[in-house]
Amino acid sequence: MRLIFLGPPGAGKGTQSQMLSESLGIPQVSTGDMLRQAVAQRTQLGEVARGYMESGGLVPDDIIVGIVSERLKKNDCVKGYILDGFPRTVVQAEKLDEALNGSGERLDSVINIVIREDELVQRLSGRRVCGSCQRAYHITTSPPAKEGICDACGGQLVTRADDEVGTVRKRLEVYRNQTSPLIQFYAGKSLLRDVEGVGEIREVFSRINTAIAGK
Ligand code: AP5
Repeated sequence: MRLIFLGPPGAGKGTQSQMLSESLGIPQVSTGDMLRQAVAQRTQLGEVARGYMESGGLVPDDIIVGIVSERLKKNDCVKGYILDGFPRTVVQAEKLDEALNGSGERLDSVINIVIREDELVQRLSGRRVCGSCQRAYHITTSPPAKEGICDACGGQLVTRADDEVGTVRKRLEVYRNQTSPLIQFYAGKSLLRDVEGVGEIREVFSRINTAIAGK
C-alpha cells in the first residue's frame, strides 16, 4: 500500500503514520525526520537544510526529491510506504507522479488530516520529541511514562527548534501558501480522504483506518 499523509504542522501526521506503519508493516518515510537526522549528524545535506528548517521555510524541491527517490529505492519499500511530510509542493507531487508512472506503481490514498489552527499551536507548544528515535510526545495529551525519557528507546526528550511560536506561525503560512494546493491536486485524482484530526489519538487512528478501507 502506498499512502501520503497531508496536513498542517502539528496535525498528527508523524504520530498517526508511525502507528499505521507498525500496524501495516510498511515503513514511514518522514522527510522531516530524515532532515533532522542529517542536521544532527552535520552532514552536507544537514548543513544546507538547517537554515531553511530553523526559519520555518521549505528545503528546495530538488534536494527533497533526490533524498526521497533514493529512500524509496530501498528494499523495505517494495511492499509500500507511508509518506509523511512529502510531497509538500505541487512540484514535488508532480515529480512523485512521474516516478510512480515510470515504475508502473500507483498511490492508494492521500490522508488529509483536517484541523483548526488554534489546536495546532497548542499541540506544537507542548510537543517533545525523542532525540534518538524521533517519537513524538505531548506534555499533557500523550506524556511519556517517565518525564523527559522516551518510552520506546530510553532517549532524552527535547523540544524541536522549529516549535518556537514565531517559527510555528511561519510554518503555518508556508503550509497555506505552498502545501494546501495539494488538497485540490489529489482531490482531482480522486485520491483524497479527509479525516477529522481532533479527538483522542486512538480515535483519529480508527478514522484513518476507516478512510483507507474506503468505508
Ligand atoms: P516536518 O517534520 O515534516 O514538520 P511538519 O509537517 O511541520 O509537521 P510536524 O512534524 O510539526 O507535525 P505532525 O503533523 O507530524 O504532528 P505530530 O504527530 O508530531 O518538517 C519539518 C521541516 O523540515 C519543514 O518545516 C521543512 O523545513 C522541512 N521539510 C520537511 N519535509 C519537507 C519537504 N517535503 N519539502 C521541503 N521541506 C521539507 O503531532 C504534534 C503534537 O501533537 C505532538 O506533541 C503529538 O503528541 C500531539 N498530538 C498528535 N495527535 C494528537 C491528538 N489526536 N490529540 C492531541 N494531541 C495530539
